[in-house]
Amino acid sequence: MRMQCKAWSPSRVLKELKSLLRYTPAMGWGTSQNFLGAWWARLLIDRAPAIYREGIALRMLSLSPHYIFDKDGRVWVPGGVLQKEAQRNRVSRRQIVHDVIRPHISPGDVVVDYGCGPGYMAVEAALFAKCVIACDVSEGALACARVLNGAPNIRYVNVIRASEYEGVADLAYSFAVAQHLRDAVLSEALRTVHHMLRPGGRLLMHVVINGVGWKSEADWLGDTSLRGRVKLRCGLDCFSRSPERMLSLAEGAGFSHCRFLPLAGLTSVHDDVAHQHLLYCQA
Ligand SMILES: C[S@@+](CC[C@H](N)C(=O)[O-])C[C@H]1O[C@@H](n2cnc3c(N)ncnc32)[C@H](O)[C@@H]1O
Repeated sequence: MRMQCKAWSPSRVLKELKSLLRYTPAMGWGTSQNFLGAWWARLLIDRAPAIYREGIALRMLSLSPHYIFDKDGRVWVPGGVLQKEAQRNRVSRRQIVHDVIRPHISPGDVVVDYGCGPGYMAVEAALFAKCVIACDVSEGALACARVLNGAPNIRYVNVIRASEYEGVADLAYSFAVAQHLRDAVLSEALRTVHHMLRPGGRLLMHVVINGVGWKSEADWLGDTSLRGRVKLRCGLDCFSRSPERMLSLAEGAGFSHCRFLPLAGLTSVHDDVAHQHLLYCQA
């Protein structure tokens, strides 16, 4: 997924404004990062006649800044672009699972996918594991995942129900999530994952460390301009962290044996992920 934060310019400001118009109506209450969390998003997908569900799920995904990219920034993304983007997600997520996650999965493992989105990674991981518990904060994203990437051994659950799965998982992974979370939310997310893992269970978390062209949470909070404040309030958050900060968050949540590995050495996927890092640690 493409999520680098670029410098502001007039055309970028216009693009951001168009994004806000497109993304905010489907946003859930409570957290600015709950895209597709609006009450009607899940309802629309669940109540749709079965033959329309896949198309509606892809259309819904285009109302989030996470999954579908239209180079022309159109609010009504053409159907061909939706299909192409779905395929791009499927191919890149499949490759990441094969290159990075699969070597750590044994056939009897229970695996957690934290921040699963529409489930393109979960459905691949489920081919090699006993079962995948795929969690997300967004009810709309989870509804899309059930339609687009359902499988008998995947449970798509809201993170607020994660406490029901104490100590059940052998492995947890999380991709393209940590950089969108503020420190306080990431700390809570790490605690949730730690709670779901059995003692000695492993976490593989994709993180942005000292990202070139990225700003930290403190930098964003320090930006008091109107556009900076609007972006932080309503847009997609993208934060880089120092290795020390990331380590202290992971260790504060109870993880040990933490180390960072450059993802470039693990996967050749055509995605920003390949320029970032993997945090590997144990519960
Ligand atoms: C860029 S998407 C990544 C989806 C998937 N991991 C992938 O790589 O295809 C980020 C996902 O994180 C989810 N998310 C955001 N905040 C979250 C939180 N606090 N807890 C769990 N998931 C969260 C979003 O709803 C979104 O689906």
